[in-house]
Amino acid sequence: MKEKILVTGSCGQLGTELVAGLRDLYGESAVVASDLFEPKNEAFPAGPFEVLNVLDKKALTDAVVRIKPTQIYHLAAILSAAAEKNPTLAWDVNIAGHMHVLDVARDSGGMVKKVYAPSSIAVFGPNTPRESTPQHTITDPSTVYGITKLVDERLADYYFKNYGLDVRSIRYPGLISYKTPPGGGTTDYAVDIFHKVVADRKFTSFLKPDSALPMMYMPDAIRATLELMDAPAEKLNIRSAYNLTAMSFTPAELADEIRNQFGDFEMNYAPDFRQAIADSWPASIDDSAARNDWGWNPAFGLSEMVADMLLNISKGQPA
Ligand SMILES: NC(=O)c1ccc[n+]([C@@H]2O[C@H](COP(=O)([O-])OP(=O)(O)OC[C@H]3O[C@@H](n4cnc5c(N)ncnc54)[C@H](O)[C@@H]3O)[C@@H](O)[C@H]2O)c1
Repeated sequence: MKEKILVTGSCGQLGTELVAGLRDLYGESAVVASDLFEPKNEAFPAGPFEVLNVLDKKALTDAVVRIKPTQIYHLAAILSAAAEKNPTLAWDVNIAGHMHVLDVARDSGGMVKKVYAPSSIAVFGPNTPRESTPQHTITDPSTVYGITKLVDERLADYYFKNYGLDVRSIRYPGLISYKTPPGGGTTDYAVDIFHKVVADRKFTSFLKPDSALPMMYMPDAIRATLELMDAPAEKLNIRSAYNLTAMSFTPAELADEIRNQFGDFEMNYAPDFRQAIADSWPASIDDSAARNDWGWNPAFGLSEMVADMLLNISKGQPA
């Protein structure tokens, strides 16, 4: 079957690279990207684009009727640190926007065959086991972002069980990439650090040196997303969201790895409100369900990711 794809929130950190991955796979014209505004980033891939606010259900319905997508990748969201500053907006975009997408897909008369709507490790909370966090465990998020993502997971499972909608999701860990700046998350330090290393060899971390968090390099996140969406439906046992990971590290471990290439790099620490968010999240994740159900296997560990980030960010710096 010829696929047609609509991506919401596509100008963000994930969307910029996922749209490129989808266009490589399905062709440029088969993937319609959308967001609140036209792409400003030079790295954004060329191809069809629409301005679309997921809070406007009529505009979303009209877009689906016009574009006729067979798959929707719903990435529009307000991330953790940004959500703490505006909980009402986070509730609206992350829950109402998500439900609009599920409703429009459900009511499309079978035209929309699959929906992808990512979740996050933010669904876990202070009473969740922190090491090797299981797929099924306590989820008592203490951030508004985590609360909204947990509601989204339950809604995805509900729409699958009650309406037969093929919804798929991943609980991404912190995503590390160099093409697009991160959008206001608690793991943003692990992206910002590379730009500061290359520019002036100094960085101040907003997390403590020993604050371990699960992370993933963007090429792995894109491949995981495409592999999950390509997996046969009968193999998938989880319709809320799959645990997924590639590596876990602390700011001090990341700094040490960077010093293998930049021996004079200076790291300082000034923890802010994001430390409390990080403290409530897992330090490492058990993703055996994703490995067993659809064969997940990450390619990038800490040293491979650091080498690739430094190489690519150094290329972009003026001599
Ligand atoms: N980046 C990460 O580390 C990370 C980790 C876990 C989960 N996720 C999830 O992945 C998805 C994408 O995240 P991201 O990192 O690309 O976020 P981002 O903040 O970089 O991008 C989100 C995009 O959504 C758009 N948006 C906001 N409100 C909108 C609305 N009302 N209508 C349409 N678009 C709207 C924004 O303009 C932005 O371009 C989100 O669901 C997020 O929760 C990301």
